Amino acid sequence: MRIPFLNLHKLNKRFENNFKSQFDTFLTSGHYILGTKLTEFENAFASYCNVSFCIGTGNGLDALTLILKAYIELGKLNIGDQVIVPANTFIATLLSVKQAGLIPVLIEPDEDSFIINVRNVQQKITPKIKAIITTHLYGQVYGMDELKEFCSNAQLLLIADAAQAHGAIDQNGNKAGSIAHAAAFSFYPSKNLGALGDGGAITTNNTELANCIKKLRNYGTSEKYRNELIGINSRLDELQAAFLIEKLNLLDDDNNKRREIALRYSNEITNENIKLPFWNGSKNHVFYVYVIRVKNRINFCNYLNENQIGHMIHYPIPPHKQKALTNEFKNQSFPITEKISNEIVSIPLNPILEVSEIDYIIQVLNNYTCQE
Ligand SMILES: Cc1ncc(COP(=O)(O)O)c(C=O)c1O
Repeated sequence: MRIPFLNLHKLNKRFENNFKSQFDTFLTSGHYILGTKLTEFENAFASYCNVSFCIGTGNGLDALTLILKAYIELGKLNIGDQVIVPANTFIATLLSVKQAGLIPVLIEPDEDSFIINVRNVQQKITPKIKAIITTHLYGQVYGMDELKEFCSNAQLLLIADAAQAHGAIDQNGNKAGSIAHAAAFSFYPSKNLGALGDGGAITTNNTELANCIKKLRNYGTSEKYRNELIGINSRLDELQAAFLIEKLNLLDDDNNKRREIALRYSNEITNENIKLPFWNGSKNHVFYVYVIRVKNRINFCNYLNENQIGHMIHYPIPPHKQKALTNEFKNQSFPITEKISNEIVSIPLNPILEVSEIDYIIQVLNNYTCQE
């Protein structure tokens, strides 16, 4: 049996008829940017996340950058301020800080959950740090209560990189996107809520912040040809918004399926050579990816190749080891992050996996024998 890591065509084929009718409406409308579909999606996603505002953007990186730029416009951050970022996040989290003219300070994650915690934050905290970005990595919302309390006491801004966590719910029943001061989402095609191209969004309850971001994403304007701020062009495309409206209807079902598969993996993969992901079994996890840890990864990946099971590594090189950033972080080491990135492997987990495929993956993983 051959199982791809993710078959995006099969995933999206489920929406084919609705996509086609959305496209027809879009084409006929003659209004292709900042139109009614974008507003409809923004309202739907704000309501889904239980927040007052959603602002669509061109992608997830811009969503993060726009939050930071807006805080600078509002005087809550100043160019050159420092921002805490997890060392093991996707590089976009860190790049957003640099693009906004701020300085990223990397911190190690907790070794079990892969997510930053207050203990690790406290080790790096200085008066120059004005904000924290935490990533709901792999789809898991974890440790937010403690981080929120810490940020509130220390008067720091708390921003969530929720690019991988559409629909995740914390232990208090709060949706990803509604927990921090502001959150950024990506609708990159492989995401739990993925477009058919690039897309992103910001969610927040802060009216001032939302109004400022709305201007910044559209050349700094609220009225055509009147530029109040130095903005950028990063608007969620009208057609992608129309597709996302359709996909949002199935997001909870898809996330439930993801959790069901994760539960099967977590209960039935019993090979002691494979370390399973940390999860408390609740809806705090939407399993954008299911990430296991193995000692001899090359050997393990060869074994998966022989058995035709697609896999990926999220992420093989941590940001501080990337060529683009080695100069900036050359005297810093992040041993937990490096260890994690050497051992992790993402195995197929998506809502269109067949039961026979799940059975096969479990069987193949249980038959793996580690050779040092
Ligand atoms: C954690 C994280 N942050 C930010 C991004 C950036 O999103 P985008 O690719 O839409 O710019 C992504 C996705 O690619 C991501 O996984």
